Amino acid sequence: MSVYDRLALGLMSRFVWKCPSDNIIELYNQHVSANHLDIGVGTGYFLDRCTFPVPNPRLVLVDLKPNSLAIARNKLARYSPQTYCQNALEPLEINGPRFDSIGINYLLHCLPVTMQAKGIIVKDLKDLLNPGGILFGTTFLYRGVERSLLATYFFYWLNLLGIMTNKQDDAEDLRQNLARHFTESGVEVIGCGALFWGRTL
Ligand SMILES: C[S@@+](CC[C@H](N)C(=O)[O-])C[C@H]1O[C@@H](n2cnc3c(N)ncnc32)[C@H](O)[C@@H]1O
Repeated sequence: MSVYDRLALGLMSRFVWKCPSDNIIELYNQHVSANHLDIGVGTGYFLDRCTFPVPNPRLVLVDLKPNSLAIARNKLARYSPQTYCQNALEPLEINGPRFDSIGINYLLHCLPVTMQAKGIIVKDLKDLLNPGGILFGTTFLYRGVERSLLATYFFYWLNLLGIMTNKQDDAEDLRQNLARHFTESGVEVIGCGALFWGRTL
């Protein structure tokens, strides 16, 4: 997994996708709250590096893969996170109150569904937020972004292998999905990455 961190979040983010991870740490620093749910947590790389507004946040982690959850739980043990092995494509069943922030970083491009269906997931997650809560993350877009030959090559193979599903994804559809369900929202494209957020009132 540390190979994943170094390769995917270090080298590939900077040199292939042209969306350096520093931007995403900054996104977390801006939006992470003292009552945070992270879905598709992976190795917990960004949660480990971001700054929470309090020393002891309520932190709940969800992932499809038990091994990812175990790694993230260990890495983030200082926050005593609760973990759930669940599928974001189905309604999540989480004990306890709603959240003030939800992170779905690099999750949407992994989901084997259309951008329209990704919008429905975004809407369902909104229901887990308290009023004023924020959903945020990053996703890799294929259409309408500046893609190097290397990025196009990797996207081709990652889509063919079913690791990513983003060949139809563009910033406009993402903007519309967020605007449809959130009172305020924003999308910033950096390289192939779209950093996004949506806030309820
Ligand atoms: C590309 S990784 C991103 C990890 C982390 N959020 C980050 O930014 O480094 C995607 C993660 O989402 C998880 N995942 C993929 N599909 C999922 C689903 N349907 N439900 C929950 N987790 C999922 C994968 O197991 C993986 O840990």
